[in-house]
Amino acid sequence: MIYAGILAGGKGTRMGNVPMPKQFLTLNDKPIIVHTVEKFVLNNKFEKIIIATPKEWVNHTNDILKKYNLDFPRIQVIVGGEDRNSTIISIADYIETEFSLGDEDILVTHDAVRPFLTHRILQENIEEGLAHNAVDTVISAVDTIVESNDDSFISSIPRRDYMYQGQTPQTFNIKKLKSLYNILTPEEKTILTDACKIFSIKGEDVKLVQGEIFNIKVTTPYDLNVANAIIKGSLDK
Ligand code: CTP
Repeated sequence: MIYAGILAGGKGTRMGNVPMPKQFLTLNDKPIIVHTVEKFVLNNKFEKIIIATPKEWVNHTNDILKKYNLDFPRIQVIVGGEDRNSTIISIADYIETEFSLGDEDILVTHDAVRPFLTHRILQENIEEGLAHNAVDTVISAVDTIVESNDDSFISSIPRRDYMYQGQTPQTFNIKKLKSLYNILTPEEKTILTDACKIFSIKGEDVKLVQGEIFNIKVTTPYDLNVANAIIKGSLDK
């Protein structure tokens, strides 16, 4: 089975003083999360599309799904976790409880606040996710990446042609994800902010899928302006 997990469990603190988490803010004429869910609904390979939000936003999410005619039986809203990885695990646990897990079952996870993902990116995540235990969507780094261990001086400058910027979707074999997550120490759980790192730190391969430069994550008010410009640009074409 192929499942989708839309990660909407964050509070969006870097968005500043806004009345609701950024995934519910309006982009063009509808909430950001609606743009994202619409992309998933168009792909009929997904058995279930599970959206995880903060507990107090579950009802609101169901209301907007209804308002935008997205209240399909294959969409389910659940409560997310304290951090992003816990939200992913909440979705995996929900799938295990409701549908039982097969060895081949995969979960395509995606940030609710990346509304510009494409059909091609989703398709490649599904194809590579069925062939590999973990998949990450990336774009080549355009700027040189500089590492500093003390926030003051450079500790290293990795070769730029080896560097990529991570996006989402990230796709996982669900059983493998759960088994690797369960053996992490509490300290590892706090350090591993990226779910693909759960695999790479244990020496597991993570296959790359090419993202898109416009597959941005809305993090700050500036990003919301950029997202509006991307939408207007696509409407003008
Ligand atoms: N996310 C989640 N569960 C969490 C934290 C984050 O599902 N406990 C989701 C967010 O809703 C978002 C995505 O992960 O769609 C990317 O995370 P980020 O941009 O960091 O979102 P927030 O945590 O909401 O933002 P901030 O760090 O500014 O508070």
